[in-house]
Amino acid sequence: MEIIIQPTAEAATKIASRLVAKLINEKPAAVLGLATGGTMENLYRELVAQKLNWSKLTTFNLDEYVGLSPQHPQSYHSFMWENLFRHVNIAIKSVNIPDGLAKDIPAACENYERKISAASGLDIQLLGIGTDGHIGFNEPTSSFASRTRIKTLTPQTLADNARFFGNESAVPHHVITMGIGTILESRHCVLLAFGKNKAHAVAGMVEGAITAMNPASALQWHPKVTVFLDEASASELKMQEYYRWVYDQKPDWQKI
Ligand code: PGA
Repeated sequence: MEIIIQPTAEAATKIASRLVAKLINEKPAAVLGLATGGTMENLYRELVAQKLNWSKLTTFNLDEYVGLSPQHPQSYHSFMWENLFRHVNIAIKSVNIPDGLAKDIPAACENYERKISAASGLDIQLLGIGTDGHIGFNEPTSSFASRTRIKTLTPQTLADNARFFGNESAVPHHVITMGIGTILESRHCVLLAFGKNKAHAVAGMVEGAITAMNPASALQWHPKVTVFLDEASASELKMQEYYRWVYDQKPDWQKI
């Protein structure tokens, strides 16, 4: 796992955007796994500013709330159109986001997995992390072998996401999310986490035991993970000086 600690979230987000831009420039028909949440807003703003060519890309989003229509202002469909898709030249048919209104949710989930496979898998998967260690909406105790499916949010996540809905009672309790098994099959996982409230989950993910109680710790099994942190989210890492040293020593060819 490569840990990149920057003085600010802005600085870390800029470097992360260069990593994504490099993939888009080198592989115009790449398959991107996208994420939502406050952390991603600035990353998408940076990517939009780079005026990249999105015309041949295919995207798959991690998750969606069950019961919200694509037009609902808090749906992840709306988030993606507002923050990214309406600003770039992506083909609408190449955008995939789980359908929160699917009548047959298990069938829709299976179909989503089939589409990812048919697209030859994900070249990159962007990830945030929940304060409880969730990736996608794989809450604690999610199976590391899980695939796209329906999940129930924890009270912690409902409270964390209440800020987007105005109040906690408006946050849907169910979601469709790619599984941890799905995420682990992407060729490169890129996780961004900023702020003191993420420090505990980040420390568990990077330096803790691999446990379903911190779903992000499953990433320790993945051969290629890049984690972008600010000082606050890195503050509980025991080996942070080592990670900084490694980053400073990077040979030119490895620099992002
Ligand atoms: P956030 O969410 O970016 O809004 O903090 C991250 C997540 O829950 O994955």
